[in-house]
Amino acid sequence: MKAAVVDRTGGIPVLSDVSEPVPGDGEVLISVEAVAVENVDRAIVAGTHYTAAAFQASLPAVPCFDGIGRLPDGTLVGFGGLTPPNGALAQFAVVPAAYAPPVPEGIDPAEAAALSSAIAGMSMQTAAGLTAGESVLVQGATGVAGRLAVQIARLLGAGRIVATGRDDDALADLTNLGADAVINTAVDDRALVEAYRDQANGGYDVVVDFLWGRPTELLTRALTPDSFVMPKPTRLVHVGVAAGETIELAGNALRTSGLEIYGAGRNMATGMAAAYQQVVDWVRTGELKMNVTTMPLSRIEEAWQRTDLRGSRLVIVPD
Ligand SMILES: NC(=O)c1ccc[n+]([C@@H]2O[C@H](COP(=O)([O-])OP(=O)(O)OC[C@H]3O[C@@H](n4cnc5c(N)ncnc54)[C@H](OP(=O)(O)O)[C@@H]3O)[C@@H](O)[C@H]2O)c1
Repeated sequence: MKAAVVDRTGGIPVLSDVSEPVPGDGEVLISVEAVAVENVDRAIVAGTHYTAAAFQASLPAVPCFDGIGRLPDGTLVGFGGLTPPNGALAQFAVVPAAYAPPVPEGIDPAEAAALSSAIAGMSMQTAAGLTAGESVLVQGATGVAGRLAVQIARLLGAGRIVATGRDDDALADLTNLGADAVINTAVDDRALVEAYRDQANGGYDVVVDFLWGRPTELLTRALTPDSFVMPKPTRLVHVGVAAGETIELAGNALRTSGLEIYGAGRNMATGMAAAYQQVVDWVRTGELKMNVTTMPLSRIEEAWQRTDLRGSRLVIVPD
């Protein structure tokens, strides 16, 4: 079968012939239909992700570890549970049967492949307990996951929604998705702290943070009061590290602001099924718009190197 194979750390996947996997006891053969290429997949190939060691030790290996495919009886399923060197960027995959739940009817396989980014946005509810009317700040809102988070905030009944990014045109488009105000983070530190304060309008109840790094560090400064007033506490959900792996967090940012920081995985074990169903329902009704760009597996080298897909998820479809 054809598969995209990476032969070295940071290499570009190359279309190659590899032997077709054979299912063992308790496993199923999947005919792959769609695989989303996410930042985490690129970081694993680059060797920079905290889970990258197994992939690097298995080189040459096939990247991406979940996707959408069909069982031999034609049932459309989501699949996961692959371990290096066996990845999803291939015509076929073998996974444990328990890792191949059916995909609900009425959803396009390419959109289904990209749903995990929408589920990450649901953490504003599952991890931070967002309730209708509360204000939301989406950090990194011009990205794929951020654009979904803005829509999800609106669909969950958020009050004021503020969105950040670095490109004015991309930010302007977010107002069409539900943002009430935008902040361009590509300004100097002082201006960015001011912008966070100017747009807070009484405080951010929930922050969905795909950035971390410098913008989030400056946000924690902006949330810190400069008097003894007790500001409205903010629940920040950390989802991604697009702007940096670490932040410097001053003690008073926690002590006096009432800031609470959660990981996106908080409550996901119990909330995942409902979050998934909610997102699927919104996609089916057209209320939540996924932005995907599909390319065939045969053009994986070109696809992997595309840099023009801002805000759109690359989805590979075997041909
Ligand atoms: N935990 C999960 O389940 C989950 C799911 C999805 C995503 N994530 C994580 O969330 C993050 C975003 O994912 P994504 O798929 O939305 O990525 P993406 O489409 O590449 O978007 C990245 C976002 O971050 C901004 N950004 C990138 N570098 C920046 C920098 N140095 N300073 C300020 N802003 C910067 C981008 O702004 P521009 O538009 O100006 O480039 C964009 O808004 C990633 O870390 C990803 O791994 C986690």
